[in-house]
Amino acid sequence: MPSRILSIFGTRPEAIKMAPLVKQLEACSEIESIVCVTGQHQQMLDQVLDLFAIEPHHNLALMTGNQTLNGLASRLIAALEDVLAAVAPDRVLVHGDTTTASAAALAAFHRRIPVGHVEAGLRTGNLMQPWPEEMNRRVVDVMSDLMFAPTASSKANLAREALHGKVIVTGNTVIDALNLTTERIDGDATLRAELDARFPFLDGALPVLLVTGHRRESFGAGFANICAALADLAKTNAVQIVYPVHLNPNVRGPVQESLGDARNVHLIEPLDYLGFVRLMQRASIILTDSGGVQEEAPALGKPVLVMRDVTERPEAVEAGTVRLVGTERESIVRAVTALLDSAREREAFARRINPYGDGHASQRIVAALTGRPFDEFAHGDADGTANGQVAIR
Ligand code: UD1
Ligand code: UDP
Repeated sequence: MPSRILSIFGTRPEAIKMAPLVKQLEACSEIESIVCVTGQHQQMLDQVLDLFAIEPHHNLALMTGNQTLNGLASRLIAALEDVLAAVAPDRVLVHGDTTTASAAALAAFHRRIPVGHVEAGLRTGNLMQPWPEEMNRRVVDVMSDLMFAPTASSKANLAREALHGKVIVTGNTVIDALNLTTERIDGDATLRAELDARFPFLDGALPVLLVTGHRRESFGAGFANICAALADLAKTNAVQIVYPVHLNPNVRGPVQESLGDARNVHLIEPLDYLGFVRLMQRASIILTDSGGVQEEAPALGKPVLVMRDVTERPEAVEAGTVRLVGTERESIVRAVTALLDSAREREAFARRINPYGDGHASQRIVAALTGRPFDEFAHGDADGTANGQVAIR
C-alpha cells in the first residue's frame, strides 16, 4: 500500500516552494500524493498552481479581504478537521512559517497524524521579527517528527532547541523551483520575448532596481520610510524602479498613495513566477523584505539589499551577497546609491554563490519519506563541486 501523504499549503511562497516537491511526490510509486490548498492567498496562489500545473484535491478557499490572523487561524483549523478526517493521511507535510503552516500542523497533531516540516529551522531569535512568522516556524518544529532543514545552519538552530523530531538537511526547494523556471526561460527565446513584452516601459539603457515589500512588522512607519526612500532614489539617480505590489491592502494603500505619481517608479501587479524570475534576471539590484527572494537572488548572482533589521537567512549575509539595510529612509537610500555608483561593488556583491540548494531538495525529501538512501545537502554541492549531479544514491 502506498503511503498517503497530504501536502497542505496556501500562500504564494509556500506554493512556489512546495510545487517541485508535489511533482516528485506524484512521480513516486510508493506514495499517494494528495494536495490541499487552504487558499490563504487567492489570486497569488492560483498564479503558482497554474504555472506548475498542480490541481489540488481540496481547495478550502479561505481567504477574506484584509483577514485577521485569528479569523484565518480559526477558519483553517475548522476546515482542516474535515479534510483530515476525509483523507486520513499517513503523514501531513507543511511548509515554512505561515498561518496555514502552524494551523495545519496543529490540526494534524490533534489527530495524531505525523507532521513533516519543509524549510524547518529558520530563526531570527526575535519572536517579533518577522511577526508572526518566527512564532509559526517554532511551533511547527515542536510538533514535527520530520524536519527538512534547508542548510546546516538551520539544522544547528534545531539542535539547540532539543526537539523530538529527526532533522534532515535537504537544501531549499526554492532552488528546485528556480532551476525549473530558469531552464524554461533560458531555453526558449520566444518565451523570453513574451515575458519581456510584459515590461514595455523598461528602458534597456537604465539599471533596474527591483523592489518587493510586504512584511507585517513594517506596516505603518516602516512602509512610509520605504516609500520615501524609493521616491528619493527615483528623483536623484538614473534608475528605473519596478515594484510588483503585494495584494495586501495594508501594503497597496500606502504604496499607491506615496508612489503612484512618482517618476521612474513603476508600480505593477504581482507577477506570476515566470515573469518575476525574468525580472530578477534583468535587475541590477534587488531591494526586498521577502524571504524567498533572499534565497533566489544569490543563485542568480544578483546583489540583494534586505529592508529588515534581522534575517533568518544568515548564509547569504555571511557570504556577502545579501546585506541588511533596515527600514530607515536614509540607510536604504545610502545603500542603494552606493551600489548604483559602483559596478565593482555590484560585481563583488554578486559573486555567484548559492548557499541554499542544488536543485535536488525535493528528491531528498521523497527519498527520506520512502526510506531510500541519499546524501544530505552540503553547501559545496551548490556550485556542483561536490555533487554535480544528483545527491540521491
Ligand atoms: C502571508 C504570510 C507571510 C508570507 C506572505 C507571502 C502569515 C501570517 N503571513 O502574509 O509569512 O510572507 O503571506 O506573501 O501567514 N490578498 C489578496 N489576494 C492574494 C493574497 C493576499 O487579496 O492572493 C490580500 C487579502 O486582502 C488578504 C491580505 O492580502 O487578507 C493578507 O493576506 P495574509 O495571507 O493574511 O497575509 P500576508 O501579508 O500575505
Ligand atoms: N514572487 C512572485 N511574484 C512577485 C513577487 C514575488 O512570484 O510579483 C515570488 C518570489 O520569486 C519568491 C516568492 O514569490 O519566490 C516570495 O514570496 P513573498 O515575497 O510573498 O513571501 P516570502 O518569501 O517573504 O514569504
